[in-house]
Amino acid sequence: MYMCGMKILGIETSCDETACAVVEDGRRVLSSVIASQVDIHAMTGGVVPEVAAREHILKIIPVLDEALRKAECSWDDIDAIAVTKGPGLISSLIIGTETASVISYLKNKPLIPVHHVLGHVYANFLSTVAGLGSVPENELQFPILILTVSGGHNEIILMRGHGDFTILGETRDDAAGEAFDKVARILGLGYPGGPAISKMAVGGNREAFKLPRSYLESGSLDFSFSGLKTAVLNEVKKHLEAEPKAGLPEKFVKDLSASFQEAVVDVLTDKLIQAYLNLTDTEVKIREIHLAGGVSANSRLREVLTHKTQAFDVKVRFPESLAYCTDNAAMIAGAAYALYKKSPKSYKKSSNIIPTTSFDLF
Ligand code: KG4
Ligand code: ZN
Repeated sequence: MYMCGMKILGIETSCDETACAVVEDGRRVLSSVIASQVDIHAMTGGVVPEVAAREHILKIIPVLDEALRKAECSWDDIDAIAVTKGPGLISSLIIGTETASVISYLKNKPLIPVHHVLGHVYANFLSTVAGLGSVPENELQFPILILTVSGGHNEIILMRGHGDFTILGETRDDAAGEAFDKVARILGLGYPGGPAISKMAVGGNREAFKLPRSYLESGSLDFSFSGLKTAVLNEVKKHLEAEPKAGLPEKFVKDLSASFQEAVVDVLTDKLIQAYLNLTDTEVKIREIHLAGGVSANSRLREVLTHKTQAFDVKVRFPESLAYCTDNAAMIAGAAYALYKKSPKSYKKSSNIIPTTSFDLF
């Protein structure tokens, strides 16, 4: 039975953030605590799975305690436990799923496994606004067209309602965030690449380099960013061959960052709009367009999408807080609430949950 004021404790450890959150009724974030490992992985220029897993082991209990304390909740107040079941780094996922299973068993709470991408989808349903009911359910209008754009995944999703999803397009090679990370590495900008490139791109000339935009076959809503990454690498090689001793001057890095970012943003927004127009042609009246995932923090992506959709009768949303774009546990608790509400009997106290790296949706 659906309970009013249901509080779900979410746990997310799929990659390099150890995160726990308490969310009420799938929308109101009572606490969201994230222990980032960015400083550790910056030393190696990317995530080393073994190192990430060890950090999760050290952080998970302190993060859990802080999430409960900040939400002013005891275990008795928590109605269910939600955890990311995958996809992600298997050794990182295990720390979250084992922790969740033990709590579920010991505290006698239902356990709700959540697909990581479904979590990102629900990031736009979250609010930190105080007072239950200040963001009523009917504020969000279905059907919704969603672009999930992260380091590990990249999809265009039609959401007709809770639990009713169709994948319209996905990446055939690198996800957009991965392309940001790899290009940042090529340019010597460190890890994570997305924020570093978007910072460098400010004031850079977006048209300085003619970089490819891969639209694939006519009508395809899939993505491919590996060719763009290679094109950036070739520009860097060309420059270093011409001026071997000079390194990469700041203006070159700024212009290449801006040109690369523009190419990614163009393809992402054009495909999303193509999906919207295709649906309109088939008389599916999309009410909202959402951006979700780490790359949805990118201000140029937000700006271009807002501009290109100006003439449409559609509400464009981004996660309320930048912290809900990148990995967090509030979105996992939010998605878990929708799953539970649809099928409460499916979720029981459990001592056994198997993490998965499968990308099969939801
Ligand atoms: O959703 P997320 O935290 O993790 C995955 O599920 O993969 O996304 C992380 C990705 C990284 O590739 C990071 O470089 C990218 O999101 N990112 C950005 C920005 N902030 C994070 N990409 C572009 N612009 C940003 N401002
Ligand atoms: Zn993610």
